[in-house]
Amino acid sequence: MIEQLRTNLPLWVEASRVHAREGQVAAYIPELAKAPRDALGISIMGRDGTTLTAGDNSLLFTMQSISKVFTLMLALSDNGEEGVFEKVGMEPTGDDFNSMLKLELVEPGKPFNPLINAGAIAVTSLIHGASPAEKSERVLRYFQDIAGGAPLTYNESVFRSESATAHRNRSLAYFLKDNEVLGEEIDVEDVLSVYFQHCSIEINVEQLSRMALVLAFDGTDPITERELIPRRYVQIAKTFMMMCGMYNASGEFAIRAGIPAKSGVSGGILAVVPGQFGIAVVGPALGAKGNSTAGVHLLETLSTAMDWSIL
Ligand code: DON
Repeated sequence: MIEQLRTNLPLWVEASRVHAREGQVAAYIPELAKAPRDALGISIMGRDGTTLTAGDNSLLFTMQSISKVFTLMLALSDNGEEGVFEKVGMEPTGDDFNSMLKLELVEPGKPFNPLINAGAIAVTSLIHGASPAEKSERVLRYFQDIAGGAPLTYNESVFRSESATAHRNRSLAYFLKDNEVLGEEIDVEDVLSVYFQHCSIEINVEQLSRMALVLAFDGTDPITERELIPRRYVQIAKTFMMMCGMYNASGEFAIRAGIPAKSGVSGGILAVVPGQFGIAVVGPALGAKGNSTAGVHLLETLSTAMDWSIL
């Protein structure tokens, strides 16, 4: 299997790269608009650490919504299942990732799931720590451990750019405060700063494929054999990835690729082939639903060719 992958990967990357032309880089966070539109890179990591990379694999990008998978597992470790699902639901929305609609429409105004912005903001409010700085520090250390230990950093310009322009996320968060999903004791701006920080953690595809590998092996890093995340929490995270990891294109991706995945507006996608591979792609040009057009094409090509669908 590895040989087939090794031979074909560069060809598949070039065949998918043309689909970047169908997308646009995200511009609602001004700093993200600087990303190279035609870039496409991938890393596939196996259980013994064997790593195949192709394309623009040295590109650094921010995790954006991919971070939500990991903050969910940290919040589960801090609060348990009951504590988390008191504040956030378990259902896909079919709406855009930053939609406000159902918060008002469906009682009791609890976000439908932890991967939409409103849900992720609620989850971020549950991360333990005495101050926003301490919470962000815990998040960074948690992500670093899962990414194999090498230091990760925040991209300060992306953080500031998002913080200065996040009118919709601010309104979502204040709406959650009004609905009492964010409790009396919670300062909305503090929660938002921890949220923008984790969205701005910078990474490359190789590090991100290591994080995916840990999910592929149910929370244990198969290279070091360290158990990093309880299996049950990984199971919850992968279920959400399958149902709503690609937002309102999750059904189509599940039909075409059939593997749990999570996208971000910087063009990254983390994907998991359970028991086999951790995968990360980056392609900054996004389609209408916020997913990398070239990245989605590449993952669908790979999954079909390698017969990876889990169903
Ligand atoms: O909150 C936001 O809008 C961004 N920090 C993250 C959104 C995101 O990545 C959605 N992904 N497709």
